[in-house]
Amino acid sequence: MSKDSDPYLKLDHIAKSFQRGSTTTEVLRDIHLSIANGEYISIIGHSGCGKSTLLNIIGGLTPVTKGAVLLQNREVNSPGPERAIVFQNHSLLPWLSVYDNVAIAVNKVFSGRKSRAERDEWIKHNLALVHMSHALEKFPSELSGGMKQRVGIARALSLEPKILLLDEPFGALDALTRAHLQDSVMEIHSRLKNTMIMITHDVDEAVLLSNRIVMMTNGPAATIGEVLTVPLARPRDRLALVSDATYTQCRAAVIEFLYARHKAPSLVA
Ligand SMILES: Nc1ncnc2c1ncn2[C@@H]1O[C@H](COP(=O)(O)OP(=O)(O)OP(=O)(O)O)[C@@H](O)[C@H]1O
Ligand SMILES: [Mg+2]
Repeated sequence: MSKDSDPYLKLDHIAKSFQRGSTTTEVLRDIHLSIANGEYISIIGHSGCGKSTLLNIIGGLTPVTKGAVLLQNREVNSPGPERAIVFQNHSLLPWLSVYDNVAIAVNKVFSGRKSRAERDEWIKHNLALVHMSHALEKFPSELSGGMKQRVGIARALSLEPKILLLDEPFGALDALTRAHLQDSVMEIHSRLKNTMIMITHDVDEAVLLSNRIVMMTNGPAATIGEVLTVPLARPRDRLALVSDATYTQCRAAVIEFLYARHKAPSLVA
């Protein structure tokens, strides 16, 4: 039974090692974190430290070696529609239209609960959330990178996930498209109030979007080095924040962690 005092999502002393022949690589060690319902968490850390591994563990795609992921006090160790993942490389099915790429997820999860007309409305509603209503019949090859990413986000949202897991969702996009999508994600988060966990390499993106930023130490055996709370009110406006002292302080704290105290291994002299 879950109690009110229990965290919504708990990463309970998670460790992960990969085995290759007789060699064991310890990637994550003692990852411990409680996340509240509706929080926006960013995970930041140098390349190869184990961020994707951690996200895949939360998504139930990778088994833990030690510890557990607890969602409302229940262990989750396999994928489920309540935890949707958006990958960095937009994973749309190229032979399906924008509409059908979302429909395939909706039909799978809601076929017993929603009528055909309700599902059609729901598919269109989610594509409208990411401003893609004008391209329902288009195929992935006809879309820009940002548009494909938006469809990927719509597909993930259409599952009504309690938790949306985003692995560098804007990594491959140009700066303007990236800013636009960040704004869309903030808008969706404020409207749906779901829990978001996002991996990023971008310090400004982490500060702009997050309630808390989880900073990871370098691998092997990476763990959480520090967790920074971002006490900025919402809605947040990127232009106004440029000259905001709290924003600047948060930014400086993350940069200090990543580039002074925990330099990328290849950059340490
Ligand atoms: N299936 C696997 N088998 C063996 N080793 C793996 C496997 N998946 C990941 N690793 C190793 O675990 C470490 C962490 O990888 P991971 O992809 O989680 O890093 P990351 O922090 O997401 O990096 P990046 O920022 O470059 O995406 C790496 O050393 C990687 O080689
Ligand atoms: Mg990764």
